[in-house]
Amino acid sequence: MGTPAWLDDAVFYEIYPQSFQDTNGDGIGDLPGIIDRLDYIKSLNVNALWLNPCFVSPFMDAGYDVADFYRIAPRYGTNDDMKRLCEEAHARGIRVILDLVAGHTSIEHPWFKASASAEKTPYDDYFVWTDGWGEKTGDYRFISGMEPRNGYFMINFFACQPALNYGFKKPDPTMPWQKSSDDPAVRRVWEETKNIMKFWLDLGCDGFRVDMAPSLVKGDPDGEGIREIWHYYRSWLDENYPEAVLISEWSCPPKAIDAGFHIDFMIHFGQEGFRDLFLKENCFFNRNGKGDASRFIEELTGNLAHIGDRGFVAVPTANHDMSRIRGKRSLADLRLTHTFLMLLPGVPFVYYGDEIGMANVAGLGNKEGSYSRSECRTPMQWAPGEKAGFSTAEPEKFYLPLDPDPGRPDVETQEKDPESLLAFTRKLIALRRANPALRSRGGFRCLYCSKGKSPLVYERFLGDECWVVAVNPEEKENSVEFALPGADRFRQVIDCGGAVLEAAPGAALLRMPPCSCAVWSNR
Ligand code: NOJ
Ligand code: CA
Repeated sequence: MGTPAWLDDAVFYEIYPQSFQDTNGDGIGDLPGIIDRLDYIKSLNVNALWLNPCFVSPFMDAGYDVADFYRIAPRYGTNDDMKRLCEEAHARGIRVILDLVAGHTSIEHPWFKASASAEKTPYDDYFVWTDGWGEKTGDYRFISGMEPRNGYFMINFFACQPALNYGFKKPDPTMPWQKSSDDPAVRRVWEETKNIMKFWLDLGCDGFRVDMAPSLVKGDPDGEGIREIWHYYRSWLDENYPEAVLISEWSCPPKAIDAGFHIDFMIHFGQEGFRDLFLKENCFFNRNGKGDASRFIEELTGNLAHIGDRGFVAVPTANHDMSRIRGKRSLADLRLTHTFLMLLPGVPFVYYGDEIGMANVAGLGNKEGSYSRSECRTPMQWAPGEKAGFSTAEPEKFYLPLDPDPGRPDVETQEKDPESLLAFTRKLIALRRANPALRSRGGFRCLYCSKGKSPLVYERFLGDECWVVAVNPEEKENSVEFALPGADRFRQVIDCGGAVLEAAPGAALLRMPPCSCAVWSNR
């Protein structure tokens, strides 16, 4: 089970379709809008897209509640638009990854409606139902009293998201409604998911980001069932679509890669290091110098050691569920975060708008089940002006309001400035892709990380090629020494703030001014 070669050099851009570019004036982003912006996307030097779900849905969880897995939601366009998007992206060397919501459907999905009716139907076992009233349900979450069928149904996330029934690896005999994951009735659901993948791969997409990937098989204390199902899909992909990629929302790369995924994120659920770096009040990328990067480095090195060459970690700038990396940082501070993230091993993901430093917008309330996640889902800022180039609709009609800050960043303004964050982000991604040691498979070693201290320094290497990446987010000069054979051969490639690397025998002395970052190479 090798990984497709294109991942060795992949950099992803995540698009939240409803907030990217509207072309028909309804205030909601659409697929033709993404097509129109492909040249911009290419100009970022990224070579892959991840689109959040764009399928038919009542949008009670922004499309993560799918009512028809085979059809693009009319508000985004048509299946033909998706086909064209894949073709146009491919013509520019960009792959397209869709979101596969494998664990659940919407309550409006015809499979669920049939299974929830009082009559017997072929879909009765597609979801997890108790046999009747007052039954034991264990630790799972169930909804009762909403549907004609006599029993409770299991949910995966919101009440509108009934869990598909992939079976229980170890059914609990005291709960007879739990079907074995080998049962032919649930194996039909396994095949449905394969058919959905086949449909979109045949239409032209290049793989899937799988929502709640570890949730499929229940009653699985040792993880045997979940490894089994993803190995099953992965073997089928390897045989029929060897270039296709599976990316998990699991947030435990060792488990996800063992289960057959190519990439998993280090961002939330149990991978606390990401929060330590960017999200906690006293995080490492904070000027007060109170943060601590050591847990992140431990998690990353542990994950890399476990995975080896079987897959990749992804440390994204943010995503549609998390606060944007801008937080309380200035655009200048984002040079540090972006340098750190874009040169890490594995596969980087840029969340739309982070390349220009879009901010979180507080207080927007709930939009289609977003709740506090609205803050990071606001429309892309393409240009100055009241509509920001997002749509021709009146701003009150926009999917979510624009960032009201009069100084909000936008693409058009930054395009004119060679010193902009946009220009800098492009340069970082180009640097990464031009140098094998900086790409996905290049080696990683931490050169300096001390609990509760700046700077953080790491090395990327491949053969004789070696790079040093250093960030000092603290508002204070910091000097450190670390082992670096051949330190005299390094030349500075990126300099934000005047850091100096001096050679000592077998070591390097690094002096970093406040809020600075730099990159050196021995090439
Ligand atoms: C994770 C998705 O990223 C999130 O947006 C969604 O609400 C849940 N899964 C449920 O599908
Ligand atoms: Ca639209």
